Amino acid sequence: MDFQARLEALTHLLRPWSPLWSRSILQGWPESGAAYPEDWLAYARSLDEAGERRLDQGVLVGVPPPSLGALLGALQELTALPWHEGIHPLTVAQTQGLSAKKTHELERVLALLAPRTRFIHHAVDIGGGMGHLARLCARTFGWTFHSIDRDAALQDKGRRWLTRTNTPVRDTLCFIQASVEDGFQPLIDPLFSGLDRASIGLHTCGPLALTQLRKSQGAGFVLNIGCCYDKLEVPRDYPVSGFGGAHPLPFTPHALALTTRGRHHKTEVEFARMKRVYAWRFAFDLLAKRHFPERGFVRAGDASRTLYDGPFAVYALDRMERLGLDPGMTDAELNAFEVSFRAETRELLLCHLLRDRFARALEVVLLLDRAILLEELGFQVELLQLFDPRLSPRNLALIALRSA
Ligand SMILES: C[S@@+](CC[C@H](N)C(=O)[O-])C[C@H]1O[C@@H](n2cnc3c(N)ncnc32)[C@H](O)[C@@H]1O
Repeated sequence: MDFQARLEALTHLLRPWSPLWSRSILQGWPESGAAYPEDWLAYARSLDEAGERRLDQGVLVGVPPPSLGALLGALQELTALPWHEGIHPLTVAQTQGLSAKKTHELERVLALLAPRTRFIHHAVDIGGGMGHLARLCARTFGWTFHSIDRDAALQDKGRRWLTRTNTPVRDTLCFIQASVEDGFQPLIDPLFSGLDRASIGLHTCGPLALTQLRKSQGAGFVLNIGCCYDKLEVPRDYPVSGFGGAHPLPFTPHALALTTRGRHHKTEVEFARMKRVYAWRFAFDLLAKRHFPERGFVRAGDASRTLYDGPFAVYALDRMERLGLDPGMTDAELNAFEVSFRAETRELLLCHLLRDRFARALEVVLLLDRAILLEELGFQVELLQLFDPRLSPRNLALIALRSA
């Protein structure tokens, strides 16, 4: 794939819409809503529940405004990435105690590694947790493997797992408890260097992915799957490639948070739940603005599931108490407030559904920038979809092979 051409086209498409994707709708409301074209909003208002759900999946039913149709079509084309095909089936014994998600991921990672790593003898996993990938690679490929994680308790659990299951890799698998940081780390850095060494990072949070890439410049093979892009800092962590620097987008913390929300396949129940969570949050925000304007934007924070299932009043009182606020309203008044603001909270929902269309594209921009960085460092690079997004939504794998 021509990563540079793809990045240039995507940034060109996204830049004019930055007032939509770079700002928080809720924090800037109602001014933030003014960034949304009136014909987009009129179309979104006309949708029924099924139509809203289709919009959430990136599908426009009925007669959408031409500019929205054209934008979504172009975004779909430019975010399409090839899939890695094939799995390495694991036995029941090998997956003992693993979640369906973890098993799904490991079966695909092993299948991806097998044909690409014939020259590899040693590997390191950054943020390796309990060492499941490490023990499977050590067993399947005969590599010596260092699994690094800063969480000693997780690694202890991993050691106990090996003992309990009598897994015969104890000589070739080594847990290292350490925090991997940018800058010189004499005990760790050599593990990332050598043409017969693979550097692996599975769901490396935020900037840890970039630390891995920087440390792996001398590795023969690199696999990185990122996550938690909201933990990145701009400009430190984006753009990271020279080419990306010449084609930057105005990423903000709100835009980074949006990249972690790209999730295509919500079930009907998940979509209904999301709508309820939004409805309660938005109504709470309007309530707080009205009664406590001096507090500015107050964060409702994550509430327990049951609070979203019950009446608005119970949710609102719980959140108010947490924030040390007292609206002096009865349950009936709070519930009536929510009902009377439904038109406005729906408008907020529709803006969110429209803004979410940018999530995957922004995530792809971050990964194209990283792919180009690896090319600039002399690697041959692939960017593939590896996991089923329903199970593991951060499913994009960066694969880099040292060019001969
Ligand atoms: C999202 S988990 C992924 C774990 C595992 N790779 C997986 O896919 O299941 C991230 C892991 O990275 C570890 N971690 C985060 N920052 C780290 C750092 N700077 N150095 C070492 N480990 C780190 C955490 O303790 C955690 O176990």
